Amino acid sequence: MTATVSAAVRTTTADRVEGSSVDIAVELRGLSKVYRSGRNQVQALDRIDLGFPRHSFTCVVGASGCGKSTLLSIIAGLDQPTAGELSVNGTVGLMFQESALFPWLTAEQNIELPMKLRRVPKAERRTRVQQLLQLVRLEGFGSKRPHELSGGMRQRVALARALAQNADVLLMDEPFGALDAMTRDILHHELERIWQQTGATIIFVTHNVREAVRLGDRIVLLSSRPGRVVDNFDVHFARPRRIESPEVGSLSIAVTSRLRQEVARHGTDVPT
Ligand SMILES: Nc1ncnc2c1ncn2[C@@H]1O[C@H](COP(=O)(O)OP(=O)(O)O)[C@@H](O)[C@H]1O
Ligand SMILES: [Mg+2]
Repeated sequence: MTATVSAAVRTTTADRVEGSSVDIAVELRGLSKVYRSGRNQVQALDRIDLGFPRHSFTCVVGASGCGKSTLLSIIAGLDQPTAGELSVNGTVGLMFQESALFPWLTAEQNIELPMKLRRVPKAERRTRVQQLLQLVRLEGFGSKRPHELSGGMRQRVALARALAQNADVLLMDEPFGALDAMTRDILHHELERIWQQTGATIIFVTHNVREAVRLGDRIVLLSSRPGRVVDNFDVHFARPRRIESPEVGSLSIAVTSRLRQEVARHGTDVPT
């Protein structure tokens, strides 16, 4: 398809799914999810078709309650779809809005834990923990416990712990949502660098459109509940991007208006 919004190119979902499956890290076909409890049922996702190419950075945006977290938990295998197919090529790591670190463990021990659970030998774990602390720029803070670290530092530890799973696919659920703008800006930069260094496939959920345009090489828009894919934007701006740059701003406006149209039809919150 041709460019329709400034430097962004919209692509259809079908274009994505029909790509060579060799290069697809995660693929969803006709994936739906209905939560049932007693007589109540909530349809969270409705026939999602999406392919995530290996090494891509996709941001998923949509109003609150549209099924973003549900989508990630299904990809992570923590929840089962009601219908449709999912294929994940490789291992999956997770990171959430709250760092969810164990308060009684030091930063190093928190990062080491996934490797301990995988029975990675001690010497190898030690080396890897030091590499990861360096990668997230926390050298010298390994012996601190979470309460001794700032919110941004705790999210760095959580990121290192997610990377310690050696995951091919990193699922991130509003990981910077609780941080102040300055800290978030720094972590955007760090995440972009780490993504380029590690070559992981990132699926990043956010309700913050500017954050999505700052980070993603593709933005997937979900409708209000039940979540359906309503649009895709490819973002070709050079990296590193600045969140306050005019190009990020103008594409954010275009994406937000598309979301507003969608929300107007269903009547839920518009993302900020
Ligand atoms: N375990 C669950 N049981 C029942 N309903 C759920 C459960 N998890 C999520 N939901 C419902 O599914 C919808 C989508 O939720 P969620 O995926 O958390 O949305 P988002 O992350 O986009 O805010 C919401 O209406 C939510 O209340
Ligand atoms: Mg959520």
